[in-house]
Amino acid sequence: MKELIDRLEAGQELSKEEYASLISGFDSQLSEYLFEKSCRLRQKFYRKDVYIRGLIEFTNYCKNDCLYCGIRRSNKNAERYRLSKDDIMLCCHEGYDLGFRTFVLQGGEDPYYTDEKMVDIISSIKTGFPDCALTLSVGEKTHESYKAFFDAGADRYLLRHETANPMHYSKLHPSGLSWQNRINCLYDLKSIGYQVGCGFMVGSPYQTAEDLAQELIFLKKLKPHMVGIGPFIAHHDTPFRDEKSGTMELTLFMLGLIRLTLPYVLLPSTTALGTIHPLGREKGILAGANVIMPNLSPVSVRKKYLLYDNKICTGDEAAECRQCLQNRMKSIGYNVVTDRGDCVSPSMQL
Ligand code: 5AD
Ligand code: FES
Repeated sequence: MKELIDRLEAGQELSKEEYASLISGFDSQLSEYLFEKSCRLRQKFYRKDVYIRGLIEFTNYCKNDCLYCGIRRSNKNAERYRLSKDDIMLCCHEGYDLGFRTFVLQGGEDPYYTDEKMVDIISSIKTGFPDCALTLSVGEKTHESYKAFFDAGADRYLLRHETANPMHYSKLHPSGLSWQNRINCLYDLKSIGYQVGCGFMVGSPYQTAEDLAQELIFLKKLKPHMVGIGPFIAHHDTPFRDEKSGTMELTLFMLGLIRLTLPYVLLPSTTALGTIHPLGREKGILAGANVIMPNLSPVSVRKKYLLYDNKICTGDEAAECRQCLQNRMKSIGYNVVTDRGDCVSPSMQL
């Protein structure tokens, strides 16, 4: 098994079977072996810098009904909210003062925010904060919408593909949603010129080691600038309420494998990882991640953007999270930096 990791480190490609054997057979010793290499590689490109992204969850209305997600349309218990442009600008101001140079506008697929409204919000943020990168995460749109947002100044787009296996996708989503359309969106976003982030959940219902191996093959093909992964965590008001969560160990192992597979990639240590273990985010960094995405949304709406149960930081002010993360990163010898945190070599990724 170590030999497979050595081959990855040397830049060689692994077959799906080889990835699957690593994923189904890993233990703590192999994880240590992997993390030593993934950290060394991450350090080569990004030193011990950790980039922060200010996440603004601006709407929890969603027209979709993904089976795993707490803000799915059918969840009648979700208390819905929308932030106005002024609310959003206030979040950015607060974030800027705290040293954020990337803002991420994330929301459910909410038709209330027409292209016109989005373009207005995007251009206001880019005019107000010209030295900041703006990331959108608002789901599947048409080419025209993506192009309009890009022309208005959006720099990056996050669209987790959720699974690289179309059969698995159909078990996680209602039949109206198409895996192929989601993948097409990712290629479309890249062709428009966005820095693109994809991603998936670890330990989602029905996922196999082969599916996770497929993820790495898919990443090698798409070559995204960023990959967001976190453990699946059940939400009590969804059809997956009784499904078991993904594990921290497997999520960390996947982070290490992603770092070796795409050395330059921006890799967040996610809130979901911090939710299943108190030191999950620190461990994510120590497995090869280099990005953290704390919340800038007003505390009044935090608890309402509940994708899964027990989400952390829902009661903390942005400034508290910022300080908390700085301390956490310092405790493991890493530095939170005030920087847009672009991918070191976008051309290598494309
Ligand atoms: N557990 C973990 N992650 C989830 N997401 C949505 N629901 C859950 C859940 N129950 C993730 C999805 C989505 C991202 C915004 O959050 O991958 O793309
Ligand atoms: Fe939010 Fe620690 S990061 S309280």
